Amino acid sequence: MTNLRSPYDDLADAYHATVDPDGGGLTDPTLDELLGDLHGRRVASIACGQGRDTRRLADLGATVVGVDASETLLAHARRLEQDSPRGIEYVHGDAQRLDGLDDASYDGALCYMALMDIPELEPALRSVARILKPGGWFIASIVHPCTKPPAHGEFMDHTTGEARRVTGRYFEEGPYDSVTRWEILPRVSYHRTLSTYVNTLVAAGLAVERLAEPVGDRPVWREAPGLLYLRCRRVDS
Ligand SMILES: C[S@@+](CC[C@H](N)C(=O)[O-])C[C@H]1O[C@@H](n2cnc3c(N)ncnc32)[C@H](O)[C@@H]1O
Repeated sequence: MTNLRSPYDDLADAYHATVDPDGGGLTDPTLDELLGDLHGRRVASIACGQGRDTRRLADLGATVVGVDASETLLAHARRLEQDSPRGIEYVHGDAQRLDGLDDASYDGALCYMALMDIPELEPALRSVARILKPGGWFIASIVHPCTKPPAHGEFMDHTTGEARRVTGRYFEEGPYDSVTRWEILPRVSYHRTLSTYVNTLVAAGLAVERLAEPVGDRPVWREAPGLLYLRCRRVDS
């Protein structure tokens, strides 16, 4: 047991009660399409929380290791694994280091809705590149940095009656108090510009090969994307 903690430790039960409490696994057609066939693949889920994405990866055929800094969320993940075994291994660890995960040993890695919670992007992405086999893939989903920067809001366009999005403080990178966020999430998030995400991925040896910006189900998310997915590949120079 290490001293490593996550802000989610204090919210874990409420978070778990909202996010896949029955353990069926994540439902996300955009992610499934980016993942493709996983049979026979060894995949790491970085910042897996209570394991909803690890369960989806396993159901798609992968052998899965999930890493998270929150022991409390991992306890939920392990209990769900015990109730309905899929062969998933869970490791308490820091995504910024990925200690205990061997070099060049994974066909793929997923970081689902978590890079915004991780303080240091560069070591996290370098660690992902380290554990991937050459040519291995990395998929991340994040809140869209262009439509959800530290200051954002919505208004009704009275000429058209349509929902519109306004964004601000886009260039202010780093931690911010995300007061408008869901109360089961920690208050502090880390904002980076789109250029920082892409340039840091590329510098880590993770070439971006595909983006996805799914159309959401609220009127405002039919006007502008709320989420951004990036699919990358480890390239060695
Ligand atoms: C929004 S949750 C997403 C969890 C999971 N991927 C999902 O979608 O259900 C963000 C997760 O990032 C984890 N996290 C934050 N910083 C971390 C770090 N440095 N190392 C490992 N996990 C971290 C939190 O503990 C939390 O489980």
